Amino acid sequence: MPAIIDGKKISQDVRDEIREKTLRLKGERGIVPGLAVILVGDDPASQIYVRGKKNACREVGFLSKEFRLPSDTSETKLLDIIDGLNRDHEIHGFLVQLPVPEHIRTDAIIEAIDPRKDVDGFHPYNVGKLFSGNPYHRACTPAGIMELLDRYEIEIKGKEAVIVGRSNIVGKPLIMMLLERHATVTVCHTRTKDLPKVTRRAEILVAAAGKPEMIRGDMIRDGAVVIDVGINRLDTGKLVGDVAFADACERASYITPVPGGVGPMTIAMLLRNTLDAASIQDK
Ligand code: GUN
Repeated sequence: MPAIIDGKKISQDVRDEIREKTLRLKGERGIVPGLAVILVGDDPASQIYVRGKKNACREVGFLSKEFRLPSDTSETKLLDIIDGLNRDHEIHGFLVQLPVPEHIRTDAIIEAIDPRKDVDGFHPYNVGKLFSGNPYHRACTPAGIMELLDRYEIEIKGKEAVIVGRSNIVGKPLIMMLLERHATVTVCHTRTKDLPKVTRRAEILVAAAGKPEMIRGDMIRDGAVVIDVGINRLDTGKLVGDVAFADACERASYITPVPGGVGPMTIAMLLRNTLDAASIQDK
């Protein structure tokens, strides 16, 4: 049996550290970190994420603001709210929960956010900083994966890392984070010709394709570290990752469960980015 990477516990450890640092920031400099979340529409998954972010803020002692807007909100109205938050001195970081309704341009929204307050790390400025090797705010889910690898003292330098999935939120920023730490990185996607051949090379395998249980046991190298970013609900109601967990356990040395692996780390990294933003902006 592989070691199970306990994302829930590590996320709690990180949040405990953030709560302490927040207390210190308040005591020494009178700063209360503020995070705002904007949700447009009533996507059920997004509602759950937004609630989780608000509760996490409360737990670590941040100020939290929430904007729930109807799905027919115009892009102009959303840009107005973003403009207000860019100027709001109580708010050090904010995000627009994605996806937004189709009549709103995602790029226009992300680019309107002040990069210093872009705690999701999605603004082209933050993407560019990461790609040029001098990161500012890092995207939360890949940063959470790096944190898990580090806390479990898993060596990255010189390792063959394979990422399955090339999204802007996970796959692409993770390339740079692994590369920065001297891994040899390969990225696979829907047009990859012989996927099992490539994934079997991986000493660190990251599944972030959004396809339930697509990584089978025979696609995993013996002793690989398997990181599962997927969260998929089957028709039966069961929650599964992108990795066939039981099969993968026959081969992996470390593995993240779903739920309780990568998922809880995203919010922890969002809080960390917000704390950093608060420390920097009030200098
Ligand atoms: N939708 C799914 N994941 C995320 C995330 O990390 N940030 C935002 N803003 N929207 C998301």
